[in-house]
Amino acid sequence: MKNATKPFTQSFASIGAACLVSLLMGCVLAASAQAPVPDSPAIEAKAHALLAKLTLEQKIELIGGVDSMFTHAEPAIGLPRFKMSDASVGVRTWGPTTAYAGGVALAATWDKDFARELGESLGKDARARNVNFLLGPGVNIARSPLNGRNFEYLSEDPFLNADMVVPYIEGVQSQGVIATVKHYALNDQEYNRHNVSSDVDERTMREIYLPAFEAAVTKGHVDSAMNSYNLINGVHATQNEFLNLKLLKGEWDFKGVLMSDWDATYDGVAAANNGLDLEMPSPRFMNAQTLLPAIKNGAVKESTIDDKVLRLLRTELRYGFTDRPQWDPAYSTYSVADRAVALQGALESLTLLKNEGHILPLDPSKVKTIAIIGPDAFPAVTGGGGSSEAHAFEPVSTLTGIANLLGPNVHVLYTRGLPEMTDVFRRTQWDGGVSKAIYPSKDFTGTPETTTLREIAGWQPGRRGPAQNVPHTIRYTATFKAATAGRYVMLAETGGEPFSVQIDGKQWVMPPHAEGQAPQSTTLNLTAGQTIHVVADYLPRSAGERFSLGIISETDLILPEVKQFASAADVVVVAVGFATATESEGLDRTFDLPWGQDALVEAVAAANPHTVVTLTGGGGMGVTRWLDKVPALLHTWYPGQEGGTAVAEVLFGTHDPEGKLPVSFDRSWEDNPSAKDYYPIKGADTALHVTEYGKPPVDYVIPHVKYEDKLMVGYRYWTTTGKHPLYPFGFGLSYTTFSFSKLSVPTAAASGATVPVSFDVTNTGSVAGAEVAQLYVSDPSAKVQRPERELKGFEKVRLAPGETKHVTLNLDARSFSYWDEATHNWKIDPGKFVILVGDSSESTPLHADLTLN
Ligand code: BGC
Repeated sequence: MKNATKPFTQSFASIGAACLVSLLMGCVLAASAQAPVPDSPAIEAKAHALLAKLTLEQKIELIGGVDSMFTHAEPAIGLPRFKMSDASVGVRTWGPTTAYAGGVALAATWDKDFARELGESLGKDARARNVNFLLGPGVNIARSPLNGRNFEYLSEDPFLNADMVVPYIEGVQSQGVIATVKHYALNDQEYNRHNVSSDVDERTMREIYLPAFEAAVTKGHVDSAMNSYNLINGVHATQNEFLNLKLLKGEWDFKGVLMSDWDATYDGVAAANNGLDLEMPSPRFMNAQTLLPAIKNGAVKESTIDDKVLRLLRTELRYGFTDRPQWDPAYSTYSVADRAVALQGALESLTLLKNEGHILPLDPSKVKTIAIIGPDAFPAVTGGGGSSEAHAFEPVSTLTGIANLLGPNVHVLYTRGLPEMTDVFRRTQWDGGVSKAIYPSKDFTGTPETTTLREIAGWQPGRRGPAQNVPHTIRYTATFKAATAGRYVMLAETGGEPFSVQIDGKQWVMPPHAEGQAPQSTTLNLTAGQTIHVVADYLPRSAGERFSLGIISETDLILPEVKQFASAADVVVVAVGFATATESEGLDRTFDLPWGQDALVEAVAAANPHTVVTLTGGGGMGVTRWLDKVPALLHTWYPGQEGGTAVAEVLFGTHDPEGKLPVSFDRSWEDNPSAKDYYPIKGADTALHVTEYGKPPVDYVIPHVKYEDKLMVGYRYWTTTGKHPLYPFGFGLSYTTFSFSKLSVPTAAASGATVPVSFDVTNTGSVAGAEVAQLYVSDPSAKVQRPERELKGFEKVRLAPGETKHVTLNLDARSFSYWDEATHNWKIDPGKFVILVGDSSESTPLHADLTLN
């Protein structure tokens, strides 16, 4: 270890001395970015020379991680270990940090320059924490709003993802930090993410799910990629020859490091032979016990291991990690400049969806009393849950952001509006108590041990213990009698462990016994005195019991001050949506808002017509129960630590809203094009036998999700079928108006040539604002079925009132191509194409025909 850190200590001393000299000379420290140098014969020679000094055992050691977040050091060649950090909304692994509007919020900005700026800030934050590998960006496609990690990813569109991720990666890597594009690939749900197989045809993969990874490699030159947990067409990502060898390292010529997701490796030999370079967080499978005999008997070639080590060495040498310290005095862990970037991201991403009667912007001089209500109003909800969760410096909530903007002379009335979740479980009046039966088996067979309880309230709902092989299952049986007629909220929660509930013999939680689900709630309409019979099955997966279930009338649920405050205020802001416990890695979320929130919005809207609703979440969600009762709706995504300031500035018109939906906003979950194919198909499970050296073999059941929605993801489905979601992809309101004119497209061009498309965008309103000009291509004469239109270009245009800007977008060959299954190549069918330009996938006022010869 002492030797290993020597190069650092030496170069730190020399940099320190150089800085001191600079300071003495009156120079100001400037961030010393130290972008990676390109590969060269000198670097190759150095990497090979280092490799030659290693024994086979030392090489194998280098391809496994240590201490959860580090590569392995090798003192024999003076190689220190290198540090990693998550990622999606801030450099979060090593203490408090700046939390940005990342992932889906970044996509909602549609601002490529900002993507680069954000990348640079993340790179600087990483350098400030001595981090060498940033474990982001995530670019999986938002196929369904249920995926608990959509908030970490970008959008439903491969082109938008690709165009945003390239400058982002360039920004991170320009700071001398390796970006890691993840999760490669088809990791589009959290439910059963370790075992599920995403079964997808090649055309769908090439056109929808892979372009952002491809662009990250071929255009962004990303130096690290992370394989996902799931299987793809029956083969785990970490040992998937097609993805790792044929595409990533073959066609795309990726020269960097391919690491596994944390514990996503299942077979050391297969992973070694199929492209995995680094098993994280530790070498459970790609280790000496497995690989030495495999190399000896020819199952794995030593040159295969050499290639992995060379990739690590080459990358580390290109970044100069062994010649310079990752931290130097130019980098600070807390930075005011970062706060400005966090605020800019939030301001650019907030997406105004409804503004009836121009209730917004609010006039601060007319507001004497404002009520700010809802579970997402305070504390600040900066991001979703899981490994990206950042402990933000000074997060600004919607409550504090608005109060700060309005100043001391305005009365601010705040209430959460709803009780804590545990209150619902404790306050539930089960009729005659709850029967709890503990079965001595994993499938509710055998003679149970039975007790009677007053409530179903597991210990610390939402908290998960370490996974264990729990040998028993628990069934709760209870009856509930409605005291009064009306709506009741039923709420169930286990902190991600499998459960199912039947109400009067009908399955409620779907799919039953599902692991990886957020708290579930439903609304029941009961008559006075009506009795319902509830059976809840719980399959504990860790120590302690976590299952909780409750039922409460909506009237009892809403806190009494909601009506008082809402009635007394000039205007009410209701902040609803998801948060870390309800939208998170490891869980799929609900489409409906979390429990009680629909009732809360209705209660507020009934008390005050001047109600503005803000939404927090990684995509669309159920709003139709109350949407026509409120005049304004603002989607805030997860806006990062400055979100509250941005919300205040947008609501009060200091900043014109400019976010555009990066996903189609569905009316209901059933409306989503993936809904009927989202869960694994019944009867198609396969078996997987995994042997970890020195441990008993484990058999896994592999459920298969068939992507029968194929290319028809999001707006591709809506525009092809001619149906409409609630709000279309690309949509977002502004306080000003824009017009598009003067479209210029050549009438004909050669297939494969670059086609320039130009047009004007004018701010026709009276305030400054930004429009996102979107260019879609339609291919009516294609010989195969294609989506009716596809995004192939966009530009964010910032305009003063009355100002016009001329925009030119160039369409390359890929813009007109589809993946031809017969020739396994991209293909253009000559003939008519239509170029459409406008401000959403459904609003394209400019169009022109183009013939490709
Ligand atoms: C996540 C990755 C993350 C890793 C390290 C995994 O559970 O899926 O996205 O980078 O943990 O924290």
